[in-house]
Amino acid sequence: GRNALIASPPMEIRAAVLEEFGKPLVVQDVSLDGPKAGEVLVRVEACGVCHTDMYTASGVDPSGYAPTVLGHEGAGVVEAVGDGVTSLKPGDHVLTLFSPQCRECVHCTSGKTNICLAIRDEQNLGHLPDGTTRLHRGDERIRHFMGTSTFAEATVMPEIALAKVDPAAPLDVLCTLACGATTGIGAALYIAEVEQGSTVAVFGAGLVGLGAVAGAKLAGAERIIIVDPSEDRRAKAVELGATDELTGGEDTVERILELTGGFGGDYTFEATGLVNVMRQAVEAARMGWGQCVIAGVAGKGETLNVIPRYLITGRRIAGASFGGARGRDDVPALARLYLEGKLPLDAFISHHLPLDQVNEAFELMERKDGIRTVLTFD
Ligand code: CU
Ligand code: ZN
Repeated sequence: GRNALIASPPMEIRAAVLEEFGKPLVVQDVSLDGPKAGEVLVRVEACGVCHTDMYTASGVDPSGYAPTVLGHEGAGVVEAVGDGVTSLKPGDHVLTLFSPQCRECVHCTSGKTNICLAIRDEQNLGHLPDGTTRLHRGDERIRHFMGTSTFAEATVMPEIALAKVDPAAPLDVLCTLACGATTGIGAALYIAEVEQGSTVAVFGAGLVGLGAVAGAKLAGAERIIIVDPSEDRRAKAVELGATDELTGGEDTVERILELTGGFGGDYTFEATGLVNVMRQAVEAARMGWGQCVIAGVAGKGETLNVIPRYLITGRRIAGASFGGARGRDDVPALARLYLEGKLPLDAFISHHLPLDQVNEAFELMERKDGIRTVLTFD
C-alpha cells in the first residue's frame, strides 16, 4: 500500500464515476472536501466489486442516481478525523459500512436488528448525514453511493459507518467483509445461528453463498449441500466445507429431500436473488423447525411465492441485510476470526485489478468468471 499521506483536503482524487446509466463508469479526477463534524477521511486501499454496484450502474434500480461514485466494499486507512470523532484516529485500519451502527437509535439499542435508523434517509439520497456531499466537480455535486463511494482513492464517511479492524490483516482481503462475505457468513452465524451437527443447504455459490458455507462450517454443520450450476463454484464450495453438490433446476427440492432422509435442511440459505430459487429454499427447509434465510436481493417489484402449508408445518423464513451483522461490533470480530485462520476469506478473491479497470471487473462478474474482483489503488 501507499504509506505517504495524501494531500490535505479539499483534494483531487481518482474515482470511478457513474455518469450515465447503462454506460461504462468513467475513471477521472474529482474533488473531495475534508471531513466535517462526526466524519472521517479514509484513504481507500482496496475495494471489492459487488453485484449491487453493477445493478445500480445498469439503471435497472429505480432508486439509483447519477452522477455518483460507486463502490461499497471498501477497506482503508484513516487519514484525518472531523470534530467530535472519538472512536477513530489517523492510521487506524477501517472497513466501510453501507449499513452503519450508531449504537443510539431505537433499532441499535433494541439488540434485535442491525438496521440502524440514524442516517438512513440522507444516505438513501446519496448524501452525508448533514444533507450535503463532500464529492464534487466544480459546482456540480457528486453523490455518495450507499454512503460509501469507495471506487475512489479516498472517501469521507460518518464515524458510525466505519468498522475499526486489526491492522495485522491485509486490507485487500478484509475488504470482502465490507459486504459480500459478511452477508453470507452473518446469515449463518447471526440470523440462522446454525447449530453444531446440523444439515444445511445453500443455494448459490457466489460470494454470499460461499460465505454461508464458510459460516455454517465454522458453526459445526455436519452436512452442507451446495446448489449451483457452475462446476468451478461448486468445487470452491467443497473446498470451504460443502459435503454434497447439486446443479440446481426444477427437481432441486426433491434431490435435497433424497439427500436428507426425506426431511430437508435444518437451515437453508438463498443467495441468488432469484425468486423461484427462494421458493425452493423455503420448500427444502425441514418440517418442524427448518429455517430458511433469504440473503439474495430480488429485483424491485418481484414477489416470493410461498405455499402457507410450508409455514403451518413449522418452517420459518427470515431475511437479512448485511447478514444481520452490526457493523462496528461484528465486522471486527469476523476480521479476528480470519486472523485466527477460522474464516478463509482469501478463497473468495479471484482477481485483483487497478481502479482504472473497474469496467473489466463488471465484465468478469457478468461472465461469472471467478468469485470476487478486488480493486487496488497503488
Ligand atoms: Cu455489496
Ligand atoms: Zn442506530
